[in-house]
Amino acid sequence: MARMRLDSMWMFWVVLLLRLVSGVDADTTYTAQDIERISNNTLLWGPYRPNLYFGTRPRIPNSLLTGLLFTRVEDYASIQHTFRHTCEQNENMAGYGWDIFDPRLGGIQTIRDTANGIDLTTSFIKDTAAGDKGGNWGVRISGKPREKEDVKTTVIFYTAREGLGGLEVETDVPAEGVEGDVVMKGESGALGDFTITVTGDPEDRKGINKHPFHSHVTAQEKHLDRTFVNTQQLQPDALWQTKPILFQHLKTQIEELIERYGKDNPPPPYQLYTIANNAGAGNLQFVQKVFEGPFEFDILFNSGSAPEPITSTTISSKIEDLKKSFAAKFKDVFKPSAPFTGAKYEEFAHSLFSNLIGGLGYFHGDSLVDRSYAPEYEEENEGFWDETADARSRVQPVLEGPSELFTSIPSRPFFPRGFLWDEGFHLIPILDWDVDLTLQITKSWFNLMDDDGWIAREQILGPEARSKVPAEFQVQYPHYANPPTLFLIISSLADKLDALKSHPLTPHTDIHTDPSAYLLSTPGAVDAALRDLYPLLTKHYAWFRRTQAGDVKSYDRDAFSTKEAYRWRGRTTTHLLTSGLDDYPRAQPPHPGELHVDALSWVGLMASSLARIATFLSEDDDAARFAKHEAAIRRNVDDLHWSAERKMYCDASIDDYEEHVLVCHAGYVSLFPFMVGLMDPAGEKMGDVLDLIANPAELWSEHGIRSLGKGDALYGTEEDYWRSPVWLNMNYLIVSRLLSLAQTPGPHQSRATTLYAALRRNLVTTVYTSWKETGFAWEQYHPETGAGQRTQHFTGWTSLVVKILGMPEIGGEGRERDEL
Ligand SMILES: *[C@@H]1O[C@H](CO)[C@@H](O)[C@H](O)[C@H]1NC(C)=O
Repeated sequence: MARMRLDSMWMFWVVLLLRLVSGVDADTTYTAQDIERISNNTLLWGPYRPNLYFGTRPRIPNSLLTGLLFTRVEDYASIQHTFRHTCEQNENMAGYGWDIFDPRLGGIQTIRDTANGIDLTTSFIKDTAAGDKGGNWGVRISGKPREKEDVKTTVIFYTAREGLGGLEVETDVPAEGVEGDVVMKGESGALGDFTITVTGDPEDRKGINKHPFHSHVTAQEKHLDRTFVNTQQLQPDALWQTKPILFQHLKTQIEELIERYGKDNPPPPYQLYTIANNAGAGNLQFVQKVFEGPFEFDILFNSGSAPEPITSTTISSKIEDLKKSFAAKFKDVFKPSAPFTGAKYEEFAHSLFSNLIGGLGYFHGDSLVDRSYAPEYEEENEGFWDETADARSRVQPVLEGPSELFTSIPSRPFFPRGFLWDEGFHLIPILDWDVDLTLQITKSWFNLMDDDGWIAREQILGPEARSKVPAEFQVQYPHYANPPTLFLIISSLADKLDALKSHPLTPHTDIHTDPSAYLLSTPGAVDAALRDLYPLLTKHYAWFRRTQAGDVKSYDRDAFSTKEAYRWRGRTTTHLLTSGLDDYPRAQPPHPGELHVDALSWVGLMASSLARIATFLSEDDDAARFAKHEAAIRRNVDDLHWSAERKMYCDASIDDYEEHVLVCHAGYVSLFPFMVGLMDPAGEKMGDVLDLIANPAELWSEHGIRSLGKGDALYGTEEDYWRSPVWLNMNYLIVSRLLSLAQTPGPHQSRATTLYAALRRNLVTTVYTSWKETGFAWEQYHPETGAGQRTQHFTGWTSLVVKILGMPEIGGEGRERDEL
């Protein structure tokens, strides 16, 4: 039984030392339950609406949403296009996102908005030690003109109350607007009582923000520091459509003003585009400010359960604390190594990691599922792809749920929702930062599993999420799988737990700052978390094996095991979306006897991770069973998928004579057994796989490993999505395996060392160079030029580059490609 034990004598000295040096109360012991409660409290609030440039919500369904809209108000014509709310790809940003982010403490985001001529900074600060209802938080909004010093900007902050409960403006709101703070008061079940304050112009910053007079007031009167407030009452399910709601209100205002001043003499834009001061109780509150030049104000959320309020002074000091603690923790956790230790890489790495972890979202809502279980979905006949398309078109999918999900996301503008295939990769860096958070996200995903063990691969929860997805992609099918990447995390977690056995952990920060340290050092706490997860993991594993099974017996295939062979369901002639590698070439035409080497490899990964966790939990029979599966898979990978002729792993299909045949397209699919660690490090095949990786005429490029070999007839063709570009998730697995091979004495050690060093350098340089040029991380990189392409601001698995920065510098960093 592998349990962490803290030697009591050793513990005594640690406690004494901690008391002396840091004042941390290491005397307090916490139960697993306490740790979970405190952890929940510190993660309750966040900018968990990552589809917005800035918006917060708690992890409570039907509660309170906040958000920010802004635009310059210099002319009438451009407003339609410059009003920011949801992150969009075509808004001409010179970059935006979190420069630093710690989910327990807060983060700082800069939005470099060229069209609006402003750099907007949102500094989000949490004070979670205050009270038991998620504590207090605040955000400082500041604007700095990019060029025109007196650019006029309007910023609208809103709060929306989704369910039952109150929300009311407490401040008296005269027709010309409020002078000073605007205070709103509300209450809701799980949040209790709270107030939200939007600060006016504080004394020490007097004169920074100049509000123009409101159009309702005579043109000669100039009111400085006025804030406008408007209350609306709407259908709760319409609340997320804030921008159209606001535009509708502005339209009626504008019509009124035009009537009053005449078409030829309208008020200037900064006065025209203002909301009516009309405040009270309602489920949507708009608070608007108009500025000339630079500006700054705070939004403060105070929980009734907190003994001390958060103030502008607290925000100022906590911003400084956050900058320091984030930088120190980053260095400690990711340990950037040569040659990537310079300040320029620091800013880059901070930004990529912060955008990954700052992309955390809480989603809640119903989703569309086709539960017809049509017999065609078995995909057993030749021509099955036409039959399944027909069957799908006959079905009226139904809404299921609502369900909830706490997850990170691939991209704020383009994919602001949960993806099963991506999430395991996202959690690799997050696990290093915060084990407890990683477990919470993993659990949240597995809680979505249905009774059979299925998890929908794309989580499109609620109407707001659906509004971003074309109708044909909204429906989820319970016979469709997706790469079970969350098992990558289970393996990494097992590594961490093994390491703790020899080096027990001592928390050296406050529990609100780092609950993970307490989780890992409290005997039995991690075991309990894993024990909760374990039955869900094994159920998903069984579901995958059952529903994606491949057929060995019917075709007289020669293999060690008749069971360990798999086939992704959901194929068409052009795509295999369920594999995650959408347009990667597969056998043509599709055949029910097809076997996919990547599917088999993923099952191998699941089996080996489960064996480790079962061992940790003393589930010895299970551990033996999983180990047996893994051993059979290792044999079958070779028996069913190795091509002696092409010297690579290949998919298998059935030829015209009903015989097993290999279908080889050199690329990521050929590397899967290598990537998930199913190969013998000293074997001959390993040498062949290294040849394939190193070959510049096939997979090797100066910018990373190509998705498809340059020599393949389909290289770079059609959509060219997984047919040449360099992807960071696959490259991360490749560079990790090369590293472990480089650290294993054997016949391939020296070769692997050279390849590792060059690939590590190429990957970091490619992502860094493109980021420097464009201000963004990208979905994939061009294999010849290294240019970032497809989805912009793809800070999901591309952020794995922070792990690569932190890999050790070994081998010939300076060597050229010819020597590989
Ligand atoms: C923590 O939050 C999770 C998810 O919302 C919930 O299931 C769990 O019961 C909470 N635990 C405690 C101790 O409050």
